[in-house]
Amino acid sequence: MKILVIGSGGREHALVWKIQQSPKVEKIYCIPGNGGIAQLAECVALDPTDVEALANFAQDKSIDLTVVGPEAPLVAGIADVFAKKGLKVFGPSARAAELEGSKSFAKNIMNKYGIPTGEANLFDNYGDAAAFLERLKAPYVIKADGLAAGKGVFIAKDKDEAKAALKSCLVEEQFGMAGKLVLIEEYLEGPELSVLAFSDGKDVIPMVPAQDYKRAYDNDEGLNTGGMGSYSPVSIVTSELYGQIVETVLKPTIEGLASEGIEYRGVLYAGIMLTKDGPRVLEFNVRFGDPETQAILPRLTSDIIEPMLAVANGDLSGVNLAWTDDVCITVVLASGGYPGDYSTGYPIKGLDEAGTVEGVTVFHAGTKVKDGRIVTAGGRVLNVSALGKDFEEARRKAYEAVGKIHFDNMHFRNDIALRAL
Ligand code: AMP
Ligand code: GLY
Repeated sequence: MKILVIGSGGREHALVWKIQQSPKVEKIYCIPGNGGIAQLAECVALDPTDVEALANFAQDKSIDLTVVGPEAPLVAGIADVFAKKGLKVFGPSARAAELEGSKSFAKNIMNKYGIPTGEANLFDNYGDAAAFLERLKAPYVIKADGLAAGKGVFIAKDKDEAKAALKSCLVEEQFGMAGKLVLIEEYLEGPELSVLAFSDGKDVIPMVPAQDYKRAYDNDEGLNTGGMGSYSPVSIVTSELYGQIVETVLKPTIEGLASEGIEYRGVLYAGIMLTKDGPRVLEFNVRFGDPETQAILPRLTSDIIEPMLAVANGDLSGVNLAWTDDVCITVVLASGGYPGDYSTGYPIKGLDEAGTVEGVTVFHAGTKVKDGRIVTAGGRVLNVSALGKDFEEARRKAYEAVGKIHFDNMHFRNDIALRAL
């Protein structure tokens, strides 16, 4: 089979790495890819949101299956365009992708179908939103409705901060159309959990649970980032609680969408907060999580092409996933300054040495090849994933490999999976 993967981050490197292990696969293309992906796949410099150009490429190269990593092409309708041309695609339609593309759409589905989530109110103007704050207690949770690359959620400790967040969306329009509608949501507390599942539109097959680290610095200090590390499994979730989340969140979401006439085919990812009153959905994503995928896929021992094809064909029946009991942790190596301003183009040393540590795979997130050398090319640069029989071993291996890698201004968290010990 010929496979096309869309995207350029660590998640896509992990997807290409896992897909390439399938005996069914003869050739992988990636659009646009990165310096690490280029070692496993042919990278092609097309715009990953130009869905017509992607479909033409897939037709030209007789691609058997296209796997979509990021949300933007999904929200832009890549699955619909491919389906119209008879091309197989792994990822939901534009209507289904609204679950991530519009937080108010997701809230409406959750409220209509009884899926546990925080209470929220929707506003399209600053005056009403600011007046509503007077009825609430701090802290305040403010969310831009549309896609904002992970930057559209504000947890404000007082009213001034909350009003500034509302202004940035509704008055200054910093997020463009994505911030023209804003949700003010109930503040929830508890540990967070990422639950990912394959869905064919009727049923779901959950993957193993994972947790990610969103803040830039140790002890969850600093700004929110795209993710600074992850681990799997998550010991605070018993299999009973996990089953409950599948039954009360994932299944009714897929069934609810189906009764709206929306067939959800792809990965459904629920960001869950385990509050003292039970699990509550914080958000849905319509794709694999980044960097959760880099800690989940190394644990998958069965072929990933099988569930992906089954999803694309709309029938998961008979598909089983097999997982190792080994645990996995992923440490993100970022450019100094990220998630704020940072410089790129620094040569990366020690990649080969790091890869020799047993159980370790180094996924590239923001790298490129320049004059034959791998250099930094993004905020999140590398993801060091390590399997181990327990978290102590996985942490030891991951940080041993991290110690072998160097680039100027490299920054990472030292406490990934520490709370799992
Ligand atoms: P989201 O993109 O909606 O997952 O939000 C990003 C992060 O903001 C989450 O991972 C949580 O840490 C935090 N967050 C989101 N919603 C809430 C909420 N209702 N209460 C408290 N924290 C939240
Ligand atoms: N790790 C969070 C996300 O992929 O959105």
